[in-house]
Amino acid sequence: MTKYVGAIDQGTTSSRFIVFDRKGQIVSVAQREHEQIYPRPGWVEHNPVEIWLNTRTVIFEALEKKGLSTADLAAVGVTNQRETALLWDRKTGEPLYNAIVWQDTRTDQLVNRYEQDGGQDRLRAKTGLPLATYFSGLKLHWILDNVPGAREKAASGDALFGNIDTWLLWNLTGGPDGGIHITDVTNASRTQLMDLETLEWDADILKLFSIPAACLPRIVSSSERYGTGKGPLEGVTLSGILGDQQAALFGQACLNPGEAKNTYGTGNFMLMNTGEKPFPSTCGLVTTVGYKLGDKKAIYALEGSIAITGALVQWLRDNIGIIKNSADIEPLARTVSDNGDVYFVPAFSGLFAPRWDDSARGVICGLTRYANKGHIARAALEATAYQTREVLEAMVKDSKVEIRELRADGGMVVNELLMQFQADMVNVPVVRPRVIETTALGAAYAAGLAVGYWHSTDDIVQNWGVDRRWHPKMDADKREQLYSRWNKAVTRSLGWGD
Ligand SMILES: Nc1ncnc2c1ncn2[C@@H]1O[C@H](COP(=O)(O)OP(=O)(O)OP(=O)(O)O)[C@@H](O)[C@H]1O
Ligand SMILES: [Mg+2]
Repeated sequence: MTKYVGAIDQGTTSSRFIVFDRKGQIVSVAQREHEQIYPRPGWVEHNPVEIWLNTRTVIFEALEKKGLSTADLAAVGVTNQRETALLWDRKTGEPLYNAIVWQDTRTDQLVNRYEQDGGQDRLRAKTGLPLATYFSGLKLHWILDNVPGAREKAASGDALFGNIDTWLLWNLTGGPDGGIHITDVTNASRTQLMDLETLEWDADILKLFSIPAACLPRIVSSSERYGTGKGPLEGVTLSGILGDQQAALFGQACLNPGEAKNTYGTGNFMLMNTGEKPFPSTCGLVTTVGYKLGDKKAIYALEGSIAITGALVQWLRDNIGIIKNSADIEPLARTVSDNGDVYFVPAFSGLFAPRWDDSARGVICGLTRYANKGHIARAALEATAYQTREVLEAMVKDSKVEIRELRADGGMVVNELLMQFQADMVNVPVVRPRVIETTALGAAYAAGLAVGYWHSTDDIVQNWGVDRRWHPKMDADKREQLYSRWNKAVTRSLGWGD
């Protein structure tokens, strides 16, 4: 009897394989980080082959740890860093270029060019997205223009495009030897090439961006039997794909309109379920597909994307060296009683929601001789909370739904100082569920539902439970004073890039 469901969580910093039981509890997990490649300021790349090899390794490791085999898996789902784009050779499986990561800003000139005629929001009605360096369509455009031979190969179907979900699914099902070339609706909605209503590639946008349809994957639902694994998942049914943030929405049981979650990882991503119709934003959020279960109607979401939150903690660790491990940020921040009037705007990839300003760059404001590394650490954590407040306010304004409680998950939510400050800054309680690996869990649910391991989404609701709640304690004057200083700091970050 098969007892478990597996999920591959291929993130920006690492790849995990997690095995879950019927209660949605973690049975086994293995994780590997991969190299972040920064060839120039603003450029961020990953080696797709390294990601594929790490994925294979973590599958083996997680199974081996608990003496499991592929026969113990009823199904496997895939969730991934979204928007990160690559093109590879169909015959050899070799990437034509590194994967261009969602945070990469090299397409800013292309964005400017397309904005000239019709403005930043010219594709919003169809795709739900503003023109920005963030989305994968223009990253593919860049590869086609800059990698010798890429355009010809893509046009003849000899090169295949995908976000990381597509790359992994293709390799997991045989690669050059019959691998399936698909992507799910949630990932497709992040390319800016898909029509949100029809859930198909849009011929006009393909033409506008000079992208040949022959290189694009087939768009499928988030939960259905796609195929059977070869190699590391030999014989296992592959039946779930969700972009990481949509997976977290699903794993957090936000299954009714108005329910929202906020994930604290490399960046922060707040998503609200808005039901069966795309919900346009006028407050700087994006409209995206939340999930689509088999033949059922697609469920849409509003999203507030913040590029840099946990990544700022990593930057302090790796680039500046004031901490050794991410977890050290909390004790360092606790060495001071407040931020000492220091504010850190981490606009390393410009600013995403709700401002969408590609020209912003990171700044630290308010430095005096009084400031020390404790203040910098505190300012870095507070930046996550201020940015989240901006997004939450936009979410409430757009949706007209009051958020009474913020469901949090992701790697940063172990940070208690941050969680308390977050509750203080948004002035609603912040809730941490028992399982914070909601990204992997959501992909496991999508895969398990397709094969009948879970019977309905009621099982997801039943499995969800609270670990801890933080209640706001800060008085209103203090809260507003801090927030207005933050906003002043943000104005200092704008327009730095050309
Ligand atoms: N104790 C902590 N305090 C603050 N930040 C932390 C702490 N522990 C981890 N982090 C941050 O959390 C992030 C990792 O979280 P998580 O694993 O959810 O990220 P992620 O976005 O899912 O990664 P990926 O992009 O690889 O999926 C890192 O950026 C790390 O710096
Ligand atoms: Mg993640």
